Amino acid sequence: MERFLKKLTDNAPYGVVIFSGEPPKVVYHNKTFEGWGLLEKPFLEKLLALETDEVEFKGRTFRVYTFEEDGKRAFVLEDYTPLKTYQRAKKDFVANVSHELKTPISVIGSAAETLYMEETDPFKRRFLEKILKRTKEMEALVEDLLILAALESKEGKVLWEEVAVKPLVEEVFSNLSEFAEKKGVSLLAEVGLERCLCDRHKVGILLKNLVENAIKYNREGGEVRVRVYREGDFAVFEVADTGIGIPKKHLPLIFERFYRVDKSRSREVRGTGLGLSIVKHIALIHGGRVEVESEEGKGSTFRVYLPLRPSAQNEEGVKEV
Ligand SMILES: Nc1ncnc2c1ncn2[C@@H]1O[C@H](COP(=O)(O)OP(=O)(O)OP(=O)(O)O)[C@@H](O)[C@H]1O
Ligand SMILES: [Mg+2]
Repeated sequence: MERFLKKLTDNAPYGVVIFSGEPPKVVYHNKTFEGWGLLEKPFLEKLLALETDEVEFKGRTFRVYTFEEDGKRAFVLEDYTPLKTYQRAKKDFVANVSHELKTPISVIGSAAETLYMEETDPFKRRFLEKILKRTKEMEALVEDLLILAALESKEGKVLWEEVAVKPLVEEVFSNLSEFAEKKGVSLLAEVGLERCLCDRHKVGILLKNLVENAIKYNREGGEVRVRVYREGDFAVFEVADTGIGIPKKHLPLIFERFYRVDKSRSREVRGTGLGLSIVKHIALIHGGRVEVESEEGKGSTFRVYLPLRPSAQNEEGVKEV
């Protein structure tokens, strides 16, 4: 049985290495581990000092599983390189297509707008209105895709700066005030934190998305309340609304890309389902997190926690969300 198990481990599609003693010495490795050229000292040192579950070496990416027992440390490595390559290709493709679409869509939009302004025939105006409405939607989609692509690329690095919170909230409100008025929703702010160390541009995008949702999924005469306060080691950005709420079973999914609660419910309110994935991504690259509480028919509260003293590892941003 032991020989059988050894044969199995030796030929497994995973790399296996076991260390023992102090300083740790390799007491076992399988053929796959050796075949990948991982028996080199720099890699073994990297592995022993690893704090995450992913390691890169000579252009390859490995997912790492660790086990410890009786003073032995075992590492099982899965080659993630093909998946990484595929993910990168997918992201590049989406980013390139979005870039290519940006200009033609805005040209169609401005041409339709010019025609619309000149047109007096109500029949033709109706068609031009449709073109305008749909180009605006496409523009919003392309913009969200480009924001996500930028967040995932090198531009996704957090540019830390001391940000005055109140002007930031006011700026977001003023950009959305027309929309709020149209929906009959009032915007309120309680800013209890003067400054926050964060990336102003990105946190602005995050707040814009949350406040926009809070207006969009609200009711006539409803309210959106933004509160910013300190809680322990975190700055909390809270956006609460008195809107339609989100059913419990959807809550874990709303931060997924393209996820929209109940298509029929949100048919009249257009969107692409990218807003909250942008929010989550921005919170994570700051070393923070997002929480949501919601009651159907009563409203929702989103809370973003950003660390007051960001740790060094977030200087580089996160690679994958
Ligand atoms: N404040 C809210 N109240 C009720 N439902 C919400 C709220 N915020 C988000 N949702 C639900 O979560 C879904 C995902 O939100 P998200 O912002 O990601 O996408 P979206 O608003 O549909 O589109 P967009 O990409 O234009 O933001 C929404 O479609 C909506 O069903
Ligand atoms: Mg949204």
